[in-house]
Amino acid sequence: MLTQEQNDLLTRVGKGTPMGELMRRYWHPIAAKQQLVERKVMPVRLLGEDLTLFLDEEGRVGLVGDRCAHRLVKLECGLTTEKGIKCPYHGWTFDTNGQCVDQPSEPSARFKDNVKILSYPVEELAGLIFAYLGPLPAPLLPRWNRLVWDNVYRTIGIIKIPCNWLQCMENTPDPVHATYLHGQFFTHWMDENGVEDEGMRRLAQGMSTPISKHEYELGKYGIDRRWLFEGQDPALGAWAEGLPLVFPHIHCTSGSGRHTFGWRLPIDDENTLQVYVRVFEPGREVEVPEQDVVPYSEVEMVDKDGKFTALNSVTGQDIMAWVSQGRIMDRTKEVLGHSDRGVVMYRQLLMKQVDVVQSGEDPINTFRDPTDNQCIPLPSAADRGNNWGKGTDGSYIRGSVTAADLMPQHIKDEIEDLFVQAAENRKARAQTEAK
Ligand code: FES
Ligand SMILES: [Fe+2]
Repeated sequence: MLTQEQNDLLTRVGKGTPMGELMRRYWHPIAAKQQLVERKVMPVRLLGEDLTLFLDEEGRVGLVGDRCAHRLVKLECGLTTEKGIKCPYHGWTFDTNGQCVDQPSEPSARFKDNVKILSYPVEELAGLIFAYLGPLPAPLLPRWNRLVWDNVYRTIGIIKIPCNWLQCMENTPDPVHATYLHGQFFTHWMDENGVEDEGMRRLAQGMSTPISKHEYELGKYGIDRRWLFEGQDPALGAWAEGLPLVFPHIHCTSGSGRHTFGWRLPIDDENTLQVYVRVFEPGREVEVPEQDVVPYSEVEMVDKDGKFTALNSVTGQDIMAWVSQGRIMDRTKEVLGHSDRGVVMYRQLLMKQVDVVQSGEDPINTFRDPTDNQCIPLPSAADRGNNWGKGTDGSYIRGSVTAADLMPQHIKDEIEDLFVQAAENRKARAQTEAK
């Protein structure tokens, strides 16, 4: 249980708030590159700030304030040119640094030199556009291994969630919920709705296995989480290796050729943007084609009436839980138990890092030396360790790796083909070696 002051400190992210200042020390993936390629101009709200993201005709990405300096028209209605973003009202144009570079109706050519709007640094990685809203010089954009591995197929998912970011993130140091929410509840939901999809049934059955023990400790990149399922070999999987909560707001799971790496971005105090990269890794037995475009899906999981519309997916089940906790969960009323010790450790770590920033130092996961930032080695333990997706002879069961995923079917087919091909190649090689 927290006091109201503690709850406010942890949940409020506006400029000048303690948590807002901590969050401004990190890069945040605000859009898929492909989203911007399709739209050219997008309004973005992050940490309570309204901004405009644009792609100019020279291919430069800019993140600037939401309004034109002239008479405050919203730049989200603007158009892009080779110089930057052009306000629709009188044509003033701003480049990626927010500098006004064109004022077609002004007689003085130098007037524009003194006109500038807010701008923030952006960078691209793994098909995502990242923004940094903090003090300069910005730290390096972290190159977490899942974002830079080769021979993998990536997809991006983007979901707007109508509740505070912290209750979404507190799900990560809480592996216990999976047995109930993604195992028992999911099975119940399929029974109630007459769903007989084999892949989903297998997934829910795997998830239903109870956790026999779980532990947490502070690690290099956040909180190392370890858990063991009943009947699982403790020498393998998450119990042996641990899987981190990557501070401050990244969720990371692995297993059976699929890694999920996802951020819970505070849009503001009452809304969260969940952005995740799914990294499908069929193995070295197959060559995964280079991706010119990382496909994205933007999914609504809570409709306008507050109805949960994606209970057929693990993510949709999580979102049901988080949204139903309240717009900003009232932690003065909670009753925590022994199984919540990961959640408690996470809150303590957040508070400690707030203090670090207030004392003028860099918080954890600040990278400033490129040699430390080539490919940051997060572990990849199979978090469920129960080999769902594999037949008794070790062969791959088509449909497993994309089960309950929300990508369009043609993308799923492409991914499944790679896994089937890899399994066949593996089998053929084993047979050759056995001869
Ligand atoms: S309001 Fe933007 S150019 Fe006039
Ligand atoms: Fe979950």
